[in-house]
Amino acid sequence: MNKLSVIITGILVTIAFSWAGLVLTSHVQLGALEHHVDELSGDSFPPPRAGIARRGKKTYQELGCVACHTQQVRRPRDEETWRLPYGYAGDIERGWGERQSVARDYIRDEVVLLGTRRVGPDLMTVGGREDTREWHHRHLYDPRINTPGSTMPSYSFLYKTRAVDDDPSPRALDLPEGFGAPAGYEVLPTPRADALVQYLLSLRMDYELPEVPAENE
Ligand code: HEC
Repeated sequence: MNKLSVIITGILVTIAFSWAGLVLTSHVQLGALEHHVDELSGDSFPPPRAGIARRGKKTYQELGCVACHTQQVRRPRDEETWRLPYGYAGDIERGWGERQSVARDYIRDEVVLLGTRRVGPDLMTVGGREDTREWHHRHLYDPRINTPGSTMPSYSFLYKTRAVDDDPSPRALDLPEGFGAPAGYEVLPTPRADALVQYLLSLRMDYELPEVPAENE
C-alpha cells in the first residue's frame, strides 16, 4: 500500500467508527423508544403538547431562551455515597424536578432544547413550579417584577400598550406600581406572548416512566 491509500483508508475507518459510535449506537439504544402507555388509563406519556404550546416553542427558539436556560433535570445524589455524579449540581435538591429527566421525556419533541448553560434556572418543570399565565406574563414583561434584581432581559416587545377606552380588557396585565403603563393605558399580551406562556406552562414532568422511579431522593 502506498501512503495515499493508507491515509484514505485511515480517514474512511475514522468516519466509519464515528458514524457507528454516534449514529448507530444511539439508534440501537434509543431508536425503538416510544411513548409510555399507562395500562389502566390508556393515556400516553409524555403527553402531547397542544398546538398553541408548540407555536410557543418556536418563539422560545427564536428568542434564544436556550442560551441561558437548560431543560434537563440531572441525576440526583448517589444513595449510598451521597455524592453527586461528577460535575453535576443537585437539581432535585434545588426543586427543579422530582426525578431526573430521561430520553423518553423528549420523545415528542422534534427539536430538543437541552441547553448547555444555566444563567437562569432549569425550565424542564417550570410549568409545575409557576403554574399561572399571569405570573409568566408579568415575568416576561419585566422579570424584575417577580424577581427583584433579576438579570434576565425584559421581553416587553411581546406586549402592546394601548389607551384604555371605555371598556378595559380583561386580558390586560396586572402590573405593580412603577412597572405599569401610564395612567389611561393598559398592557396586553400579543399572540406570540400567549403562545410562549402556554409553552412554558406545558413544561412539566408530572408523570411516571417505567425506567425511572418517581421520587429519586
Ligand atoms: C441572559 C440570560 C437569560 C435569557 C436570555 C433568558 N433568561 Fe429566563 N432567567 C434568567 C435568570 C438569571 C433567571 C432567574 C431570575 C428570575 O427569575 O428572573 C431567569 C428566570 C426565568 C424563569 C423563572 C424560572 C423559575 O424557576 O422561577 C422563566 C420561566 C424564564 N426565565 C423564562 C425565560 C424565557 C421564556 C426566555 C426567552 C424568552 C428567557 N427566560 C431568557 C436568565 C435569562
